[in-house]
Amino acid sequence: MDLKGKTAFVTGAAGGIGRASALAFGRAGADVAILDVNAAGLDETAGILRENGAQAESLVADISDYNAVERAVAATIARFGRIDCAHNNAGVIVAPQHFSETSVDAFRRVMDVNLFGVLYCMKAQLPHMEAAGGGVIVNTASVSGFLTQHGNGPYVTSKHAVIGLTRAAALDYGPRNIRINAVCPGFVETPLTAKFFEGNPAGRQQILDQHAIGRICQPEDIANVVVWLCSDQSSYLLGSCVVADGGFSLV
Ligand SMILES: NC(=O)c1ccc[n+]([C@@H]2O[C@H](COP(=O)([O-])OP(=O)(O)OC[C@H]3O[C@@H](n4cnc5c(N)ncnc54)[C@H](O)[C@@H]3O)[C@@H](O)[C@H]2O)c1
Repeated sequence: MDLKGKTAFVTGAAGGIGRASALAFGRAGADVAILDVNAAGLDETAGILRENGAQAESLVADISDYNAVERAVAATIARFGRIDCAHNNAGVIVAPQHFSETSVDAFRRVMDVNLFGVLYCMKAQLPHMEAAGGGVIVNTASVSGFLTQHGNGPYVTSKHAVIGLTRAAALDYGPRNIRINAVCPGFVETPLTAKFFEGNPAGRQQILDQHAIGRICQPEDIANVVVWLCSDQSSYLLGSCVVADGGFSLV
């Protein structure tokens, strides 16, 4: 996939899926703006990008703060002049809890990051894409955007909403040459899910058994889908929610 001359904007790029996606955009030839609340992790990602010959702009910001997102997007435009591809990916999860025990504040925090964070990024990115005559956005949803799990109410609600947001925005912006899609991972081995794996071979095996493909998803598996969704190879996908879960949601 050739994205030379393009600029990509990736949130949650200090680790996990976001870092893999930022590095994949760099390998495809794009300049990459990377955003996260974790400055140290962002530095590491920027270092790897530069070692690999890509241009990187680090943006320390919280996506649940609209003004901070606007500043980050403005800094990207100031540095690279454009945003062609955006991967709105940063997200959080809360410890499993029955619905009745989940505080309104905990619920709101998950919605603030996972839903409003994605909305704020799109609101800030879209005018620049429109002005440039087009662009592509990929939002990270999840299989939790169409399935549900016990004790995961806030996350499931937020990811269902990300799919709704993606589809609604795709309808509005398709005629303006802006393709908006979502990627829906199942279970990916990242810092977010480390607690299920580390020092827990039985837990790892249990997760493995839920994947017909016979291995657990790595961040690069999702990053490849994201870069493909941002390339002309996926030119007819609009408002699609691409499930990349190794068969996790088949049973
Ligand atoms: N790992 C999985 O199994 C899995 C499955 C489906 C979907 N997802 C989704 O993929 C996305 C990335 O998850 P991951 O597994 O790479 O997680 P991760 O925890 O490894 O990475 C998430 C990154 O987002 C950053 N972040 C969190 N809140 C932020 C905020 N308010 N502002 C800016 N940055 C913030 C974190 O610092 C972190 O670097 C999330 O949206 C997650 O819900 C993950």
